Amino acid sequence: MKIAITGKGGVGKTTLAALLAQAYAASGRQVLAVDADPSPCLAGALGFPDGLRTRLTPIAEMDDLIYERTGAMPGTIGGFFTLNPRVDDIPERFSIIHRNVRLLEMGSVDTGGSGCICPESALLKTLFTNLLFRKDDVLILDMYAGVEHLGRATVDFVDAMLVVVEPTRRSLGTAAQIKKLANDIGLTRLWLVGNKVRGPEEADFLETETPGLPLLGVLPADLAVQEADRLGIAVYDHVPALRLAAEEMAVKLVKKLE
Ligand SMILES: Nc1ncnc2c1ncn2[C@@H]1O[C@H](COP(=O)(O)OP(=O)(O)OP(=O)(O)O)[C@@H](O)[C@H]1O
Ligand SMILES: [Mg+2]
Repeated sequence: MKIAITGKGGVGKTTLAALLAQAYAASGRQVLAVDADPSPCLAGALGFPDGLRTRLTPIAEMDDLIYERTGAMPGTIGGFFTLNPRVDDIPERFSIIHRNVRLLEMGSVDTGGSGCICPESALLKTLFTNLLFRKDDVLILDMYAGVEHLGRATVDFVDAMLVVVEPTRRSLGTAAQIKKLANDIGLTRLWLVGNKVRGPEEADFLETETPGLPLLGVLPADLAVQEADRLGIAVYDHVPALRLAAEEMAVKLVKKLE
C-alpha cells in the first residue's frame, strides 16, 4: 500500500504522515516512511533520536550512489544513463529505523516537471515504482507543500493520496487544485483529511464544503501537538486524541483500498 500525503503549507502533512506510519507499524506492518520535503522534518515528527538522524543522508545528495547506479552524475541533463537502475538494496542500506518505522529522505529533487529526466529522479522514480512491496507493507510519502510537484514522475505509483486540509476555504481551494492535478495523471483514489479541527462545526464545514473528495477523517486541534514538537516526542506518543483518530483512519484506509 503506497500512500502520498499532500496539502497546502503547514496544514499538518508531516504530522499525519508520522501518525499513520506509527499506527501501521504498531499494528505489525512493515512501514517505509519517505520524507520528500527538501527541508526534511519527518524524522523529528517520528521522534527519531538525534544520534540516529545524523546517520541519514538524503538519496538525492548521494552523488556517488547515483553515479554508480545510473552511470551519470546528478544534475546531468542529456547524455546517456540508465532509466532503470538497481534499487533493491537502497531502503535497507540508506534508511534508519526507529520503533519499526524505516525512514528515507529523498532530498531536493525536481521530480515534478514531466520534462525532467535527470539521473537522480530516474533513481528515485525506479525506487518507488519497483520496490517490491508485499501486500501488507506500507509506504508513506510525506510530500512538500503545494501542487507544483504533482507531476506524473512523483506520484503515479501511489495507491492513495491523502489531501490534508484545515477547516478553511483557502485550504480547501488548494485541495481542489490537487484533486484536479491528481485526476489529470490518472490518480482517482484521493481522500481529504481534516486537521486542526476545533469542534463539530468545523468538522461539518469540511464535510459539506468538500471539493468533491470524500473525507477520510479528522484530527482535532490540540495544543499538545506543538508541545510534542518542543519536547522532541512523537505526537503519536504524546497526544492520545490524535493517535486514536489516526489509528481509526489507518484502519479505514486499508478497508477502502482492499
Ligand atoms: N492537530 C493539530 N493541533 C495543533 N497543532 C497542529 C496540529 N497539527 C499540526 N499542528 C502544528 O502545525 C504546524 C505544521 O504542522 P506540520 O509540520 O505537520 O505541517 P506540514 O503540512 O507538514 O507543513 P509543511 O508544509 O511546512 O511541510 C506544526 O507547528 C504543528 O505542530
Ligand atoms: Mg511537512
